[in-house]
Amino acid sequence: MTELLVNGGRHEVHGSVLTTLAEVLRGHLGLTGTKVACGEGHCGACTVLLDGAPALACITLLEAVGEREVTTIEGLRDHPLVDAFVRADAVQCGFCTPGQIVSAAALVRETPAPTREQVRHAMAGNLCRCGTYPKIEEAISTWQG
Ligand code: FES
Ligand code: FES
Repeated sequence: MTELLVNGGRHEVHGSVLTTLAEVLRGHLGLTGTKVACGEGHCGACTVLLDGAPALACITLLEAVGEREVTTIEGLRDHPLVDAFVRADAVQCGFCTPGQIVSAAALVRETPAPTREQVRHAMAGNLCRCGTYPKIEEAISTWQG
């Protein structure tokens, strides 16, 4: 039994030594906003925050989370970035979007008005097969309205 702090709530979850954080979030806690695409740490679809820092849930073992607070896209539903992505039309199929917003939230928390270069650097690990990169950059650059 492991205790997890997720989006401000505590949960007791079970898992083996090989259970990933993504499996627990999606399968045990029903937080399916965290997507799994590659499952190998290459695409960023599964990005969550651990104590505010981006982490790839598909390659983070449950046992490695420890006392750190997990924030998923569900925990960011009221973040202004969500509206900014809609305003900028930065969503096509939407599969990558939760991970994009989670990574962007970590960026603007540290750097509220990032340059395009800073946006590209921070978002380099989040792939979008629909190619919405220019609109994602616009959303992050205009998130404060
Ligand atoms: S699903 Fe985790 S990095 Fe691709
Ligand atoms: S919007 Fe389709 S993968 Fe990014």
